[in-house]
This record gives sequence, C-alpha cells and structure tokens, in this order.
Amino acid sequence: PRHVARGPAGALTAAGLDVRDLAAEFGTPAYVLDEDDLRGRCREFRAAFPDADVYYAGKAFLCRAVVRMIAEEGMFLDVCTGGELATALSAGMPPDRIGFHGNNKSVAELTRAVEAGVGRIIVDSSTEIDRLSALARERGVRPRVLLRVTVGVEAHTHEFIATAHEDQKFGFSLAGGAAVAAAFRILDEDVLELRGLHSHIGSQIFDASGFEVSARRVLALQAQIRDARGVELPELDLGGGFGIAYTTQDDPASPHDLAKRLRKIVDGECAAENLAVPHLSVEPGRAIVGPAVFTLYQVGTVKDLDGLRTYVSVDGGMSDNIRTALYDASYSATVANRTSAAPPLLARVVGKHCESGDIVVKDEFLPADVQPGDLVAVPGTGAYCRSMASNYNHVPRPPVVAVRDGSARVIVRRETEDDLLALDVG
Ligand code: LLP
Repeated sequence: PRHVARGPAGALTAAGLDVRDLAAEFGTPAYVLDEDDLRGRCREFRAAFPDADVYYAGKAFLCRAVVRMIAEEGMFLDVCTGGELATALSAGMPPDRIGFHGNNKSVAELTRAVEAGVGRIIVDSSTEIDRLSALARERGVRPRVLLRVTVGVEAHTHEFIATAHEDQKFGFSLAGGAAVAAAFRILDEDVLELRGLHSHIGSQIFDASGFEVSARRVLALQAQIRDARGVELPELDLGGGFGIAYTTQDDPASPHDLAKRLRKIVDGECAAENLAVPHLSVEPGRAIVGPAVFTLYQVGTVKDLDGLRTYVSVDGGMSDNIRTALYDASYSATVANRTSAAPPLLARVVGKHCESGDIVVKDEFLPADVQPGDLVAVPGTGAYCRSMASNYNHVPRPPVVAVRDGSARVIVRRETEDDLLALDVG
C-alpha cells in the first residue's frame, strides 16, 4: 500500500500507525487495508476510463465497508453469487450500479437479482436465457442483459484463471457460432433487453495485447449482429484481469496506459466497421484491492535445515492465503517490527497448517536474526486472500482492519472458536 513506510523506530507504519501497535490491538494474523490506497486506485481507474463505467469485481474482496467505499468513489460493482449480491444490497449499493455474473446462477439468485432491479445480468448459457426469460415473463419485467462471449484468446496467466480459451466453462464461443446464435435468441426474446457483449479473458494479465485481440473480436461480432439484425448494441464490457506487482519482478501497465490502448483499438475497430462507439465498461478487482492490503503475521518458529533451507513459520498460512499453494503465486515478505543489521538469509515463509504445501512466500531474503516474536508483513494480499480464506484445521479467519489518517477500525472482525462451533448441530 502507498501509505506504508518505516517509522523512526524501524518498524513499519501504515497510514501513520506502527504495526506493533496494530498487532497488539487487533492480534495477528490480520489483513491491514490502507483505505486511501484503495480509494486512490478507484480514482485512478475512473480517471483513466473517464467515459466508461468501472465495475469493482467483488470476488476479489467484499464486505460492507468496502462496498460503501467503492460506491462513494463512483464505482459500479460486479457480483457473481447471491451472497455477494446480498452483501452489496445490505450495504446500500444502488442496484442499478450492480452487474450480476456467473456461469450457474440459480433460479433463486436470478429471482433475487430481478426483484432487486440489478442494472444488468451477464448471461452465460442457453439454460440461463431460458430461466431468465421465463422469470421476466412471469414478473412482467424486462431485465437488461449482456452476453458473455468466449473470444478464444490464450491469456498468458495461470491455467486456472484464464477464461477466454475455448476449453473452459464460461461464456458462448465465438468460433463455433454459439455467441452469434445466443445474441439472436436474446434479441428475439422481447422480455430481455440485450445491452451489449461482454468478454473477460482471465486474471493477473500483463500483456495488454490479449485485451486488444479480445476487443477486436467482440466488435467484429457486434458488426455481424448489426449486419444481420440491424441492431447496434449500445454497450461493451471488456472485463477485468489487469495484473498487479506481487514482487519487484512484476511490471504491470498503468490503468492509464491500458485505457489508452483499449480506447485506440475500440475507436479504430468501430471506425473500420462503421459502428457507433459503444459505452464501455471494465471490471477490475485485483488491481483495485490487491495492492491496498498487507497481511501482518507473527513468527512462531524458525527452523534451519542445515544448509538446505530455513523455514520461518507464521501464525496463519494457506487458510488466509491459498494463492501460493493453488496457483504457485509469488509474494514477498519483510520483517515489520524492526530493521536489522544481520546479513540476509534466504528463507521460506510457511504457515501453521498440517501439510507441507502450506507455503505463504516461497523464497525471500529475511535478516538472518529473524526470530520468534518478530512480525512479518506480506504485501499485495488484498485480492483473493480473505475472499478465498478457509477454516482449514479449524483456524479462525483473520480480521480486516482498515487504516486511514492515523486511525484504525475493524471492518471484518476476527472469527472466534465460537463462530466455528456455531454451525455444528448436536
Ligand atoms: N470480471 C469477471 C467476469 C471475472 O470473472 C473476474 C475474475 C473479474 C472481472 C476480475 O478479475 P481481476 O481484475 O480481479 O483479475 N482467484 C484467482 C482469480 C480468479 C478471478 C476470477 N474472475 C486468483 O487468486 O488469482
């Protein structure tokens, strides 16, 4: 986060607060959210895409306080389950600023979305078109929909988070003609209002050319629909997936540069096809919240395997950050409570869970005198860490503490053992 620095005593400070005080007050592990950083990233995206709508992808991290922050920053919100929708609505997010995603929305979820009057539903299958039109007819409403298109781009990211190659579960394929057929079907359903096309090619993407290819392909479909049906769809959503720096080796494009490149492609393609330029939207999740958070852990044990490796065990692990184990993700770590003159030591930061894949940071240089009681900060944990957290080994999930201007407030409290036991029946 932007407001993290070393204080005079050598400890990290976040928004002016010493991490030792944060650890003492809120315990460890804890996710520390720099609120001004998050708000700053919203503003940066909105300034980069001044005439587009910026949907924050809530799957990256969602709680009521964050819904309010992004709403105040003029953002829209992408939800993908009934649970995310419920969180958004209970925080007062205006329904017309919500987009509803998902490849298997249930009838109950669709009903709730339609009843709430969400701004748009991104349809992902023919079954969903059937469900939604039946619902709309029953209720005498006309939901606005976007059509999720699989553009066939091989995004260069981990296979589990790439979504636009052909062999995966999302969207309607361009190549096989499924997308154009689905568009015609929706246009024929007078109870559905087809507002536009949607493409999301994957996540943690650095190479902007994937977005460019995707934009070209959806606009070609847009032209095909116009030629066949005489309808120009007024909107176009290019999805999210903008990569962030987890380590110093990562060099992501700025929102401003990305926006410029996308604009150029969209304008050029529209001119070439003689299409009116559609109203654009994008859906960044990771790029908004990822860099705004660090996880604060405490070291419990340090084990030196004679020349092989040093294991630094912290009081959390794969239950609060599954990304290293699941995607082989890279993170960095730093001793946060002090500086040290000791030489650097290549260490592996691991958690407290009962498996050896429980790795938080694969390789990091920590001072050789790192010891039990030290605090360790792992930056860049705002996205897909708390939101993918589990209770593996019955470890309660950490709190989220928002810091701003020298004060801290808990926005998601720490789970307790009572919380864990509350679901047991009998
Ligand atoms: N829009 C759609 C339709 C999406 O499916 C996603 C992410 C986003 C936007 C936001 O993508 P972002 O800007 O955050 O990259 N758990 C994985 C990431 C899964 C992303 C799923 N969809 C991870 O930890 O890397």
